[in-house]
Amino acid sequence: MGSHALPRPALRQRIRGGCGRGRGVLGLGATLSTPPTAHAAESTLGAAAAQSGRYFGTAIAAGRLSDSTYTSIASREFNMVTAENEMKIDATEPQRGQFDFSAGDRVYNWAVQNGKEVRGHTLAWHSQQPYWMQSLSGSDLRQAMIDHINGVMNHYKGKIAQWDVVNEAFEDGNSGARRDSNLQRTGNDWIEVAFRTARAADPSAKLCYNDYNIENWTWAKTQAVYNMVRDFKQRGVPIDCVGFQSHFNSGSPYDSNFRTTLQSFAALGVDVAITELDIQGASPTTYANVVNDCLAVSRCLGITVWGVRDTDSWRSGDTPLLFNGDGSKKPAYSAVLDALNGGSSGEPPEDGGSGQIKNAASGRCLDVSGAGTADGTAVQLYDCHGGTNQQWTYTDAGEFRVYGNKCLDAGGTGNGARVQIYSCWGGDNQKWRVNSDGTIVGVQSGLCLDAAGTGNSTPVQLYTCSYADNQRWTVS
Ligand code: G3I
Repeated sequence: MGSHALPRPALRQRIRGGCGRGRGVLGLGATLSTPPTAHAAESTLGAAAAQSGRYFGTAIAAGRLSDSTYTSIASREFNMVTAENEMKIDATEPQRGQFDFSAGDRVYNWAVQNGKEVRGHTLAWHSQQPYWMQSLSGSDLRQAMIDHINGVMNHYKGKIAQWDVVNEAFEDGNSGARRDSNLQRTGNDWIEVAFRTARAADPSAKLCYNDYNIENWTWAKTQAVYNMVRDFKQRGVPIDCVGFQSHFNSGSPYDSNFRTTLQSFAALGVDVAITELDIQGASPTTYANVVNDCLAVSRCLGITVWGVRDTDSWRSGDTPLLFNGDGSKKPAYSAVLDALNGGSSGEPPEDGGSGQIKNAASGRCLDVSGAGTADGTAVQLYDCHGGTNQQWTYTDAGEFRVYGNKCLDAGGTGNGARVQIYSCWGGDNQKWRVNSDGTIVGVQSGLCLDAAGTGNSTPVQLYTCSYADNQRWTVS
């Protein structure tokens, strides 16, 4: 038997309004023009998610807890923890009736000592069964499953926020069928028996069904799980949540209908959670889309990424996570933080204050070409010199004004659209959101203010946000 697990920390306060203010990249002075509904930009994933009452978690591997780079990132950024392997069946019951919680408790205790909550993963699964269980069948296996759920849930009773009670019980592909497994062969009711057993063992935990390839609303597997959950709700089988693993890759890509999937399951009366997120190549845009999908669904409890650094990932070759192997933040990290902060979470510059706006890649300033004043004059990069054609004032309407009455103006809404000055008239093509990572996004287009190069006279344009330095700006 392992050491005892520490008690679960009190649920953290859910913050849904009345935020204070911090300093953002573009902050200038004391009086700031923040819309009344805006939050301060939070600087870690967990704190940013907590602004909407959600969590941002990671899988933790016990074997990496002696790596200080790993633990310092994990303790700083995340407020929910899932044991990557240590609470699975083979780890917790290596011999029938002999439980071993030593590795699970190492992860659990690290989480609690660092102020985090814990998702339990996982109680009934066709995979990672210990050898003794693999050879069982029929009523003997059914009883072993029940005994396992009771043994593990009793150990962690009252300490786990959500349990993945049943994992990956459906077939991939177009059949919509249950996955063939020794558990499935004990009878189709094995899943509901697992849930009823779990509810009785620990009534305080939310009980989840967890699976992959159920994110795309059009896929047969998604529909099959949806039908099972609907049936369980209709018949009173105790299920509280569905976990969408969200391992996105070229064979199973993110689709924008994920939001429909989350909304549809939530409408059945269950919570939803993104439980094992990783994205092949870690596209910042796709990461932001996933976060925004969760934020759009009130019953989406939170997001867990499946590991800390790329080198910690079960698919390290796909570089699918938010941190590089050396612990530095990837562009996807900024995209996630920004989305959690509401997409416009950065501190806008001082209302009425003015300053030069400097591009991070080139060190050159946002400049009205030739110091022209006519409507349609192009905006470009140029050496910073403090002239009036480089002095921009951020208004509480979200405009950047130059010369008093001319506005930074988007001449279109697509990639490559020209950015110019034009008489201020209050249109959305003259309004800009300033983000905590230094990006400036056009309100009308949703595209980023982008310098296509680094030299003097490089045109400034709109472009899809890539979170690279040619799209980051600071006020000096
Ligand atoms: O610890 C041993 C090591 O001592 C041994 O030398 C080595 C030899 O292969 O194996 C090591 O154990 C491996 C373990 O990960 C720890 O790294 C296992 O072989 C390996 O099978 C295991 O893989 C885990 C996998 O689940 C097993 O199914 C991954 O870490 C884990 O990320 C992955 O997580 C799953 C979720 O539980 C469910 N959803 C899918 C997800 C990704 O596959």
